[in-house]
Amino acid sequence: MTTLFLLVGLPGAGKTTRARQLAEEYGALRLTPDEWMIPLFGLLEADGKRDVLEGRMLRLALEAVKLGTDVVMDFGCWSRDERSAIRWLVEAESARFRMIYLPVDDATQRARIAHRRATAPEETLPMSEADILYGRAHFEEPDKAELDGCTIDGPPYGWPTWREWAADRWPSFA
Ligand SMILES: Nc1ncnc2c1ncn2[C@@H]1O[C@H](COP(=O)(O)OP(=O)(O)O)[C@@H](O)[C@H]1O
Ligand SMILES: [Mg+2]
Repeated sequence: MTTLFLLVGLPGAGKTTRARQLAEEYGALRLTPDEWMIPLFGLLEADGKRDVLEGRMLRLALEAVKLGTDVVMDFGCWSRDERSAIRWLVEAESARFRMIYLPVDDATQRARIAHRRATAPEETLPMSEADILYGRAHFEEPDKAELDGCTIDGPPYGWPTWREWAADRWPSFA
């Protein structure tokens, strides 16, 4: 069965490092938005352009699993709705969804961000204290039920399926 891996965690959690390992191990297509945003725009968030990029990547990911290629999505996915939507879309293609959550405590996160800045400056942009605090405040940590993956939430009220919700969240997905 074709698998889509979704990496979840804050900046510095080790997502891209793990995504590279998984891509190597499974011969999977790795989609890391930062590796496109930085060369294209010199920014990680550029006026909604990250949403556009991620929407196209999500389409590409679903195309790839349809073709039988495993995919590693290195999106971070702070929101539970984003994760549920991606899971639903992957399972609608009869592929397997595997979420990989990398928790990271504050001190480790800061040390890793500094390590990356020192060792691979081209892979990243400087992160401010405000960026780090914003992430902590907005990240929706997956709970046990979500990690176990036994059930999947329905879309928020007013959305017929996760497909419509995803096309609103990532406009270029439609
Ligand atoms: N398990 C780990 N143990 C120690 N250092 C790690 C680990 N995973 C990643 N790192 C280091 O931490 C930094 C951030 O990792 P990265 O994979 O870029 O995080 P993310 O993609 O989640 O922002 C890098 O310098 C990386 O080499
Ligand atoms: Mg990364």
